[in-house]
Amino acid sequence: MIGRLNHVGVATPSIDASIALYRDMLGATSIEAPFDLPEQGVRVCFVNLPNSQIELIEPLGDDSPVLAFLAKNPKGGQHHICFEVPDILAARDAMVAKGATVLRGGIPRIGAHGVPVIFVHPKDMGGVLIELMAEPVH
Ligand code: CO
Repeated sequence: MIGRLNHVGVATPSIDASIALYRDMLGATSIEAPFDLPEQGVRVCFVNLPNSQIELIEPLGDDSPVLAFLAKNPKGGQHHICFEVPDILAARDAMVAKGATVLRGGIPRIGAHGVPVIFVHPKDMGGVLIELMAEPVH
């Protein structure tokens, strides 16, 4: 069912500090401008890699879902991984049919890439928060 790995989500208390890390420590050369995604309560920045992306996410607002993660991981850390799927609603229905908990009532939201996404609770996926996103137009 899953397709290519689209990105790895990394939570950070400071996108600016993380940009410096990926640029100066790892030598990343393609880092996009950060932008706010208020509907998701995050500020986002993409680090482009030859085969994937790192999605840096910083809390935005007082009810950001990233705040609880940073409370447990103050320095930030790996937050989720995202796979592409050909049909987001079919993927949602399949996950529910297999007993997984799809967050936010299973209603797809427009994610940082401008296509619908859902999140599968980490308790059903070996402790890893899974994002499934509709295949973007490449
Ligand atoms: Co993501």
